[in-house]
Amino acid sequence: MKLKIAVLPGDGIGPEIMEQGVAVCSAVADKFGHEVVYETALCGAHAIDETGDPFPEETFNVCRNADAVLFASVGDPKYDNDPTAKVRPEQGLLAMRKKLGLYANIRPVETFDCLIHKSPLKDEIVRGADFVCIRELTGGMYFGKKQEPSINAEGVEEALDTNYYTRPEVERILRVAYQYAMRRRRHLTVVDKANVLASSRLWRKVAKEMAPEYPDVQTDYMYVDNAAMRMIQDPGFFDVMVTENTFGDILTDEGSVITGSMGLLPSASTGSSTPVFEPIHGSWPQGKGLNIANPLAQILSVAMLYEHFGLTEEGALIREAVNASLAANVRTPEIQAEGAHQYGTREVGRWIVDYIAAR
Ligand code: IPM
Ligand code: MN
Repeated sequence: MKLKIAVLPGDGIGPEIMEQGVAVCSAVADKFGHEVVYETALCGAHAIDETGDPFPEETFNVCRNADAVLFASVGDPKYDNDPTAKVRPEQGLLAMRKKLGLYANIRPVETFDCLIHKSPLKDEIVRGADFVCIRELTGGMYFGKKQEPSINAEGVEEALDTNYYTRPEVERILRVAYQYAMRRRRHLTVVDKANVLASSRLWRKVAKEMAPEYPDVQTDYMYVDNAAMRMIQDPGFFDVMVTENTFGDILTDEGSVITGSMGLLPSASTGSSTPVFEPIHGSWPQGKGLNIANPLAQILSVAMLYEHFGLTEEGALIREAVNASLAANVRTPEIQAEGAHQYGTREVGRWIVDYIAAR
């Protein structure tokens, strides 16, 4: 297969983990005889520095003309500490999602047996947890009508975000969720706040209408506060969960820590244009340039990329190589066993590339 991949390394540890992601992608392509070409483009704080825009038109064109985007991370502390900044690196990510129509964000939450002890949860609670969060990505409060903080007629400072959803937006994301549920354990949990929010009542209404079309799937409805609690009490309950943009953002951070390390979880975002594959973690500016960032989430994002194109053996080989690296204790510091040798970002990537080449 021929694949044109747009590479967006972004900020912080992004370029370092991306280097390993691309190396693994190429190793797999060589192994299976695929022809992969890469085109690198600017995004995030880097892009602001060079062009004034966190998602420049040029980058959009590179993404639009590619078969897939491999994205690392954006964000820089100089913007975090400045609430008045007119442009922010994160806007680059949001612009990319909106312009590429990436309405479905697929975030698998899986545990690795050898890392269970790193989880803040008790072994017996977290062992075997394996679910997917389908997060709506181009609607809700992220993109609804906004008003930045400003003084109103009564002299009171006010600000506004609108949690706006349309029926077609809800329908299409629920369809994606049902398709995942059908391929998995056929259990879908619709997470909302229908006891308070009108937008959630629309979600629940549409889901209740759609559920009879999928009689093989057990559909549950759960309030988001309850879901947050259930995820730490009994994560094994979930198979596929579907939820709006903001709830999905929060719940997937919770999901990532229960597995033991944020550096392990990849994600895919799909929709009407080029799909994007990226780790769910951020740019970790403190780790930048130190060769200590875990490249596994980026590498597993490459597995999701191959799988998206039906190349399941390619994806499986990457997963096998990642598991082998963990089993061989070739790990970055945050997941390394006590007293064992600590490997750097590059060394972990190199080990995985060599493993793939030798298979
Ligand atoms: C994520 C991130 C982004 C989000 C930020 C960086 C805008 O937290 O992908 O979960 O809130 O969607
Ligand atoms: Mn987030």
